[in-house]
Amino acid sequence: MMDINIKNGITYVGADDGQRRIFDELIGLPDGTTYNSYLVSGKEKTALIDSVDPTKKDVLLKNLKSCGVSSIDYIISHHGEQDHSGAIPDVLEAFPMAKVITNAKCKAELIDLLHIEDEKFIVIEDGQEISLGDKTLRFIFTPWVHWPETFVTYLAQDRILFSCDFLGSHYSFKKLFVDDNNEIFIAAKRYYAEIMSPFRSLVRKNLEKIQPLEVDVVAPSHGPLHKGKDFITGCYSQWASDDVKNEVMLVYVSMHGSTDRIAQYFAQSLEKKGIKVHKFNLADADTGDIAMALLDSATAVIGSPMVLAGPHPKAVFAAFLVKALRPKTRFLSVIGSYGWGGKLVEQLADILGSTGAEIIEPVMIKGYPKEADYKLLEELAGRIKTKHQELGLS
Ligand code: FEO
Repeated sequence: MMDINIKNGITYVGADDGQRRIFDELIGLPDGTTYNSYLVSGKEKTALIDSVDPTKKDVLLKNLKSCGVSSIDYIISHHGEQDHSGAIPDVLEAFPMAKVITNAKCKAELIDLLHIEDEKFIVIEDGQEISLGDKTLRFIFTPWVHWPETFVTYLAQDRILFSCDFLGSHYSFKKLFVDDNNEIFIAAKRYYAEIMSPFRSLVRKNLEKIQPLEVDVVAPSHGPLHKGKDFITGCYSQWASDDVKNEVMLVYVSMHGSTDRIAQYFAQSLEKKGIKVHKFNLADADTGDIAMALLDSATAVIGSPMVLAGPHPKAVFAAFLVKALRPKTRFLSVIGSYGWGGKLVEQLADILGSTGAEIIEPVMIKGYPKEADYKLLEELAGRIKTKHQELGLS
C-alpha cells in the first residue's frame, strides 16, 4: 500500500484513475491519471486542498474517513474544472461546517458548474494567508494555467507548493514522489503541450511569481509529487520559451494513397536536408503526440486530399488543433492531392491564418505525384530549410 504521508500533518487523500484512457473526450491518457487531494491538519484548523473527479468521490470520502478526520474547516478550491472541484458538494455534505476558500472567479464558476451556495464561500485575494494554527496557507494567483481563475497555495512552514494543474502530469503512480525524472518527463511534457501551451507567456509570468519560493515538495493535482521544484520548473521554462527547433511537425491523411505518397516523399526530402520530422497519419494519430511535436517545431505542415471540394475533415481537425494550441511554430504550409479541384488550401488557410505564423506557399498535386510534382515538394522542403536557417536553426 502506498505511503500517503507527505510531511507531518499533510496527507494524500486523492484518487487513482489508472484505467482512464481519455480526458475531455480529446486527450489520450496512455498512463492513466490521478486526481490529487491533500489533507492539511494544523493545530487549530484542517484544510482539504482540492477534491477529486466526481466519479471518484467515494474514494476521497473513504480516504478522509481512513485518516480519522472529524471535521474539515476549509476546502481550498484552486480551479473550477470538475476533475478537481466535482466532489466538493459531496465533501460539503459530509462536512457541513466546511467553507470553500477560493478566489472570486473560481467562486462564480463553482456556483455555475456545481450549484454550491453563496454562503459556503470565503473569497480570498492574491497573496492572502489563512492560518491553521501552526501552518499558514498563502494563496498565490497564477491565472491561465490553464483557466482564468487558477491559483496555487504555498505552505511556508513545510515548504510545500500545492500547484493544482500547474506543473502536473497525467500519470497514475504507485509511489507518491517522482523517483526518476526521466520516467515522468514525457507525461509532464504531454500534459503541458495539451493544456498549458496556449498560455506560454502567462506560464512564464507564473514561473517568475513562484521562483522566489523555497520549495521542498511540489504537490500538483495530477501525477506524482516532485521533490524540489527545479526539475519541473526548468522543463516548463524551456517549453514556455519562444525557442523553436529545426523540426517539422507533419500531419496528414490519405484516402486513396496519393497524399500518403506525397507526405512520405516530403518527409524524406526534409530529413535529407537535416530537418527532423515528426510525422503523424491522422487516421490513428494521438492528439497528445501531435501537441508535443508542435511544442518545439519551427514549422507545421498539414497534408490532405480534397474531399467534397474541401479539406479532409481530419485535416480540418488538425488545423483547428494547431490554431487552438497556439504553438510557437513560425511557419505553416499545406501539401495534398486532388482529383478535379476545390478550396482545400483556402479553407485550411482560413483556419490557420490567425495563428500569426507565416504560411509558406502550399503544394497541391493532381492525382498520384509525378516527377514534376516531386520537384515541387523538394522545393518546398528547400524553402523551409532556408526559413529555418534564417532563424539560425540547423
Ligand atoms: Fe485537471 Fe484543468 O483540470
